Amino acid sequence: MISIRRLCKAFSVTHGKVEALKSLDLEVAEGEFFVIVGASGSGKTTLLRCVAGLESPDNGEIRIAGRPVFSDTPPTWIPPQERNFGMVFQSYAVWPHLTVFDNVALPLREGAQKIPRSQVNERVRQALRMVQLDEQSDRSATLLSGGQQQRVALARAIAVNPRVLLMDEPFAALDAQTREFMQAELLKIWTQAKKTVLFITHQINEAVYLADRVVVMTRRPGRIREIVDVAPVRKAEGWDRFDRTEEVMDQESFVHLRTHIWRMLRGEQQTDDPKTLETTGGMT
Ligand SMILES: Nc1ncnc2c1ncn2[C@@H]1O[C@H](COP(=O)(O)OP(=O)(O)OP(=O)(O)O)[C@@H](O)[C@H]1O
Ligand SMILES: [Mg+2]
Repeated sequence: MISIRRLCKAFSVTHGKVEALKSLDLEVAEGEFFVIVGASGSGKTTLLRCVAGLESPDNGEIRIAGRPVFSDTPPTWIPPQERNFGMVFQSYAVWPHLTVFDNVALPLREGAQKIPRSQVNERVRQALRMVQLDEQSDRSATLLSGGQQQRVALARAIAVNPRVLLMDEPFAALDAQTREFMQAELLKIWTQAKKTVLFITHQINEAVYLADRVVVMTRRPGRIREIVDVAPVRKAEGWDRFDRTEEVMDQESFVHLRTHIWRMLRGEQQTDDPKTLETTGGMT
């Protein structure tokens, strides 16, 4: 579904260049829930922005469903609005002068797809119900808390019903309880609607809980350090039989994967004081 070859991206800064991504290769299958973890500054956001078309890579190729959206040879560039993605970013972007409802409706009214008014209303209501903001729909977006604004951003991405969801730490500003609720809701949407999801997180528990596969990025310049296949373990161990997230996270097979990923990240952080990571909850 998403195929990335030899992707390079450097940023010009005052004293030269910052190499954010270096010759990165990645294949994400159709319908896959693909999670990216890596140290801060390892190029995760840059990668997602390149896929979305918000950043122009220097070299390489990105294909979506077989169609090149970026390529160095022959030079190809498909603008973001033609790539059919739903996006939720680290900094939740809501339009402050609009209500909650209008924030979610805007891409449906103004986007490339021409959607009849009655359908817009239904889709916005459904998306707001999902993020539990249906009762706030007439409020101005500026009156919402950070976590609520992030949920508006999520509802907006889902309402457009894209084939691919690109999510950059979408739950980072949520309290633990809401976060757990949203993780479960996202899994529901993903299973029902068969979306391809590319998801960034710093929480290893969240990564293993949600992912079919987890990719661990190296320190800058970002490359793939290892890809951890979670789906076969979830299936073999029957994680889906548990109702509660904590029950899954207590399973020995879950803890084993989490520890493996955590060790890799710890190696990437090159800390010589592993105790610090343990006591600061580096595993969560
Ligand atoms: N517009 C920019 N101009 C200059 N440097 C940039 C720009 N955007 C990103 N970078 C640099 O590229 C590197 C990768 O940044 P990126 O935001 O992709 O990291 P990240 O893995 O998402 O980190 P985090 O986990 O902290 O969000 C960093 O060193 C960052 O400083
Ligand atoms: Mg980032």
